[in-house]
Amino acid sequence: MMNEEESSVLRCNHIQKSFNTDSDQKTLEILTDINISIQPKEICAIIGSSGCGKSTLLHIMGGLDKPSAGEVWWHDEPIHKYKTEKLAELRNQNIGFVFQFHHLLPEFTAIENVMMPAFIKGVSQKEAHKKASNLLNRFGLGSRFEHRPSQLSGGEQQRVSMARALMNNPSIILADEPTGNLDEKNTELILSLLFELREEEGISIVLITHEKEIADRCNTVYTLQNGILEKAD
Ligand SMILES: Nc1ncnc2c1ncn2[C@@H]1O[C@H](COP(=O)(O)OP(=O)(O)O)[C@@H](O)[C@H]1O
Ligand SMILES: [Mg+2]
Repeated sequence: MMNEEESSVLRCNHIQKSFNTDSDQKTLEILTDINISIQPKEICAIIGSSGCGKSTLLHIMGGLDKPSAGEVWWHDEPIHKYKTEKLAELRNQNIGFVFQFHHLLPEFTAIENVMMPAFIKGVSQKEAHKKASNLLNRFGLGSRFEHRPSQLSGGEQQRVSMARALMNNPSIILADEPTGNLDEKNTELILSLLFELREEEGISIVLITHEKEIADRCNTVYTLQNGILEKAD
């Protein structure tokens, strides 16, 4: 039997993050001592008040930002030590991001946006198109392939960005308030898709949310407060 540390998909050890403010040269410590370990198939919620550092933490977990101190492990790989290029490759192949605002490329169509991570990975056009079509169909966007982001509703944009996050079969999804701007119906649609995928594909999910009802549906709930994470019982 492996212990929690050995079996984890993603793990943060003693993460600290400070920002230097240009104006008064003060250092702002946002994360003090973050310890978290995500297991395969785990759905983990992180809650906390606005500005407490949730997005900062998620970016560090996914290698979009570097910690000021501490370690981030992807399985047995110390990604806090990785250079930009190697990190980008690891992200592209293993980690799916979903943001509160979709971050789709405005000049590309829905299907082109979804195919993008596969192009970056070097997958053939034919294969990428097939996979992207399957995802968009599954997400109820079969008639929206050629729409640009501005021609889609908020719920549709978010489903496109979920499809994009899943394009390269990641083993973890990091979602930063993915339903923060959606109505109840679209929120439910996005969440049920996420939970279904976790069942089928065995992916892990880290979900930042400020909605208690959403957190209650996750396996593990952490509160971020004063720079540290506390696990709820
Ligand atoms: N690049 C940055 N430079 C300086 N301060 C930052 C930067 N990114 C975030 N912050 C500050 O860190 C704090 C936490 O931000 P954030 O992680 O976005 O919070 P949350 O997602 O919980 O609302 C905020 O006070 C924010 O102003
Ligand atoms: Mg945030």
